[in-house]
Amino acid sequence: MTDMLIKGLDGVVVAQSSKSKVYGEVGKLIYGGYAIEDLAENVTFEEVIHLLWYGELPNQAQLAALKAELADLRAVPDGVLAVLRDLPLDAHPMSVLRTLVSALGCLDNADAEAAARDEAARWRCAKRLVARIPTLIAAHERHRRGQPMVAPRADLAHAANFLHMLHGTAPGPRAERALDAYLVLLADHGFNASTFSARVTVSTESDPYSAITTAIGTLKGPLHGGANERVMAMLEQIGDPARAKAFVDETLSGKGRIPGIGHRVYKTLDPRAGVLRRLSEELVAEVGDSPERRYHEIATNVADAAATWFEANRPDLRLHPNVDFYSAIALRVAGVPTDQFTPMFAMSRVAGYTAHILEQYADNRLIRPRGEYVGPLDRVVAPIEER
Ligand SMILES: CC(C)(COP(=O)(O)OP(=O)(O)OC[C@H]1O[C@@H](n2cnc3c(N)ncnc32)[C@H](O)[C@@H]1OP(=O)(O)O)[C@@H](O)C(=O)NCCC(=O)NCCS
Repeated sequence: MTDMLIKGLDGVVVAQSSKSKVYGEVGKLIYGGYAIEDLAENVTFEEVIHLLWYGELPNQAQLAALKAELADLRAVPDGVLAVLRDLPLDAHPMSVLRTLVSALGCLDNADAEAAARDEAARWRCAKRLVARIPTLIAAHERHRRGQPMVAPRADLAHAANFLHMLHGTAPGPRAERALDAYLVLLADHGFNASTFSARVTVSTESDPYSAITTAIGTLKGPLHGGANERVMAMLEQIGDPARAKAFVDETLSGKGRIPGIGHRVYKTLDPRAGVLRRLSEELVAEVGDSPERRYHEIATNVADAAATWFEANRPDLRLHPNVDFYSAIALRVAGVPTDQFTPMFAMSRVAGYTAHILEQYADNRLIRPRGEYVGPLDRVVAPIEER
């Protein structure tokens, strides 16, 4: 076999998967055969979890069973909360989440250690991870605000229960819809960097908690999940819809990047961005003059100004808004603080991560690419005093 360098693994196919497919040229995304637009309109996050885990949308009885099972697993062990209390209050929420997921693994040692060989143990780990990540994020937010933690409520759906644990009151339908739709849209996305890193970790027969810890660390970066926070920061910085065009022209002419624009795979509009733009319109239509409405207007003005700029100056790049661009509005409507946006991404994507690692365990081959060595050759060690 000849060595072929493919930087960034661009276009490389590393495994088969039945979870989701991204059609980058035409801007289409499917989970298990269903178009994302159809799912966003018609199903809840729990139904998507069922689809990703079992390959089928649930019937009523299956959905009720899954919801009850996840609701039952929401409370986290006290040991994790002790770790949380020891962390610095100004640590980045993604660093906190990464650390707490790792701690969850230590406290679920028997199943974690059995997972590579025991299918039932790995399913238990997967379910605990999906059920408990919202509890960890809400507990961290309450803790750093100096507010008492709020126990999960088994009668609420995944999104509503999270908002209840975050705010201390059950959400209204608008906030619940905003978060649930966001969770549906972000749940899986082919072999993105963090999902791939989770699969790499279990390909060594490591445990599910290590895999999700790896994935969260990978998701944190600004080229991946961290972009949503930067979009919100940009909307705040622009502040006024009338300033959007000048900001875009100045940034792009100065060779800067607009967060939430561009994608490695999509060469047209990311279909999730289309759904989120419509959702964002729907959400702000219900409120009068408000910061959310202003952010929505700034976002649409930025997107339109960027499209005009790229068309005039760099049509070759084919850059469009990605999922992070409009998700900022949905998360703001749900009352999520900006630096908890990327943990929200993790809270959704853990559905996909767990589906992918279960798939990887079931048909595993160690993932081990090679690099092209470009260092010096034929050197001989000199005694240390001569170096
Ligand atoms: C997503 C992203 C990392 C994809 O990167 P990639 O496939 O490696 O593409 P590159 O970084 O090689 O960029 C290709 C070209 O587009 C330009 N470009 C990419 N994203 C840009 C953006 N958001 N704004 C302005 N220009 C951008 C690059 O400057 C580069 O231009 P050049 O050919 O003149 O050098 C990139 O588009 C980006 O940084 N976007 C902003 C961050 C973001 O939204 N990330 C979340 C993705 S879900």
